Amino acid sequence: MIISGSASQALGAELAAALDEPLASVEYERFPDGELLAAAPGVAETDVDRAVVVASTVSSDAHVELLQLQDAAREWGAEEVVTVLPYMGYARQDEAFEEGHPISARAVARAISSGTDRVLTVNPHENAVCDFFEVPAEPIDAAGRLADPLPADLDSPVFLSPDEGALDIAATVRDAYGAGDTDYFEKQRLSGTEVELTPSDTDVAGRDMVVTDDIIATGSTMSGAVEILNEKGASRVFVTCVHPMLAANAVTKLSQAGVEGIYGTDTIERPVSEVSVASVLADAL
Ligand code: R5P
Repeated sequence: MIISGSASQALGAELAAALDEPLASVEYERFPDGELLAAAPGVAETDVDRAVVVASTVSSDAHVELLQLQDAAREWGAEEVVTVLPYMGYARQDEAFEEGHPISARAVARAISSGTDRVLTVNPHENAVCDFFEVPAEPIDAAGRLADPLPADLDSPVFLSPDEGALDIAATVRDAYGAGDTDYFEKQRLSGTEVELTPSDTDVAGRDMVVTDDIIATGSTMSGAVEILNEKGASRVFVTCVHPMLAANAVTKLSQAGVEGIYGTDTIERPVSEVSVASVLADAL
């Protein structure tokens, strides 16, 4: 039985189809005081061996919904509750950056662990975040799927990551595409919305560029990279990421920087979610 959080309904349906498992009818309500209720009335009458709760924790509400759906699955008598976090919110807060700060990724991982037997999460910012869970947790690499929507006629492409940490994603996308070089920029984060990028010496003039990252959040990183590549005479600049958060005016920033196309997966359901990670998750389940 697949049970979807409200932010992961399309992926939940794809996963149910890929696994040939029933998709629960979930209702999402909000009480007048603002509290949420995510429930699946009727499921209790069916035999549920394994409940797979699929919920990207893109907001505080999504976190609460997830905890409620895990709890409901236990109430129905599911023998095993598996939690799929297509996108794990707070994963980037994986250390206490200043004295007195929490390790937020650990805090949410502990809460999620209390309602499940196993966790899968797609391309977390660092795989080590899985160690924060108190049940078996594994990272799922879906980056190879990002090659699917790219044009087939890329001209001597360079798959570039805007920082060294995402170079493995760039290499995975290049390998899946089947041609091209990899490269990376140096990045220094100045604030939540400001970054400083230092380009490499690679001559990109006349070449098609594919900038890859795990997530586009505010779009500051990607729009900065696109701007630099256009200044250096690149031909077309595409951006692709696993988690297209695209918060606030990220799409505008990317458009102003001269991006040719934006592609992401359905770990976060957005208009640019061109590829589904359902098959990768189905294999792991
Ligand atoms: C950080 O290292 C990540 O890989 C992303 O580069 C970053 O989180 C993107 O954030 P933003 O879109 O706000 O620049």
